[in-house]
Amino acid sequence: MAVIGKDIKEAIEILKSGEVIGMPTETVYGLAGNAYNTEAITKIFTVKNRPTFDPLIVHTSSIERVHEFVSEIPEKAQLLAKHFMPGPLTLLLPKKDVISDLVTSGLETVAVRIPNHPLALQLLENLDFPLAAPSANPFGYISPTSAQHVDNQLGDKIKYILDGGECTVGIESSIIGFFDDEIVVLRKGGLAIEEIEAIVGKVRIEEHSSSNPKAPGMLKSHYAPRTRLLFTDDSLLIDENISKIAYLGFDKFHTSIPQENQLLLSPGGDLSEAAKHLFAYMRLLDARGFDKIYTDLLPEKGLGRAINDRIKRATTQE
Ligand code: TXA
Ligand code: MG
Repeated sequence: MAVIGKDIKEAIEILKSGEVIGMPTETVYGLAGNAYNTEAITKIFTVKNRPTFDPLIVHTSSIERVHEFVSEIPEKAQLLAKHFMPGPLTLLLPKKDVISDLVTSGLETVAVRIPNHPLALQLLENLDFPLAAPSANPFGYISPTSAQHVDNQLGDKIKYILDGGECTVGIESSIIGFFDDEIVVLRKGGLAIEEIEAIVGKVRIEEHSSSNPKAPGMLKSHYAPRTRLLFTDDSLLIDENISKIAYLGFDKFHTSIPQENQLLLSPGGDLSEAAKHLFAYMRLLDARGFDKIYTDLLPEKGLGRAINDRIKRATTQE
C-alpha cells in the first residue's frame, strides 16, 4: 500500500525523481507525474493501464505559467480562464514542443487545467515543471474522490498519495475546445454549461463517442462499477431477489427496494451535493455485493447534466 500523507516536500522529491504520486484536486484525485519527463508519462499510462491513444491533462498553478507550454491562448479561452481558473475547467490549447506527443497522443492541442485545491496549488507552485495527471483510477473504473479510494485501487503501484481530503466538486473538469472559432464542450464536468455560456455565449456540446477523434478518451463505457448498474424499470424488479438489489437515487427513495439498500445523492435535491457524492456512493454500493444496482437520471440542468453523463456511461455494458 502507498503512504498517505500531507508532506509536500516528500511529494516534490518523488516527482523530481521521475516517479508518480496520487494528487488531490477539487474534482477528483489525479495520478501525477512530470509532464516534461517521458519516463514519468510512461509510468502514468502503465500504472493506470491506460491506452496511449488517450491523452493526458497538464496541470499548472497560474495562467502565466500556461505560456511555458502553450503557444497561444485564444481570446475566448482567456476570458474563460479569467473567470474559472483555478477551477473545474480544462482548456484545449495549441501545444509547444516541450509537451511530448505521448502526453497529447499526437494531437496538436494540450489539455490545460489549474486545479482549485490549496494543496495541489502549493505543490504545483513549488515545482519547475507542470504535472500531467489523469484521474487516479484504473482505466474504465470510477474516478477517486478521496486518498483512500486511490490507495484501494493503485496503492500497490505507487509510493505516495498526497492527502487533500475529500474532493469538493466530485466529478471531473469540464473540457472545452476551440475549433474554427467555435467553442465546443468535449466533456461535461464540474463547471456547468450555464456558467460557461454566461461568459462566452452559446457553446456546442459534443456528445461522446468512441470514434470521436477530438476526444479520444471519451469512450462510451466508462466510470463503471463492477456490479451491474441499470436504470429503474419496475417490471424488471418483479422476479428479483429484492434483498440483493440496491438503489442509487437523487432525492427520493425507491418504494420497491429495501431502504437499507439505498443511498440518496442529495436528500435535499442539491445538484452540487449530488455531484460530490456520486462516485463515492457508487463505490459504497459496489462494495456491498449486490446483484444489481438500480438508478435514475437527475434533472438535466446545471451539474445534473454532467452527473447524468457519468451515470449513462456507467450503465453502458458495451
Ligand atoms: O478533473 C479532471 O479533469 C481530472 C483531474 C485529475 O484534473 N483529470 C481527468 O483526467 O479527468 P482524465 O485523463 O481522466 O480525463 C481527461 C480527458 C480524457 O478523456 C482525454 O481523452 C481528454 O481529457 N483529453 C486530454 N487531452 C486532450 C486533447 N488534447 N484533446 C482532446 N481531449 C483530450
Ligand atoms: Mg478519467
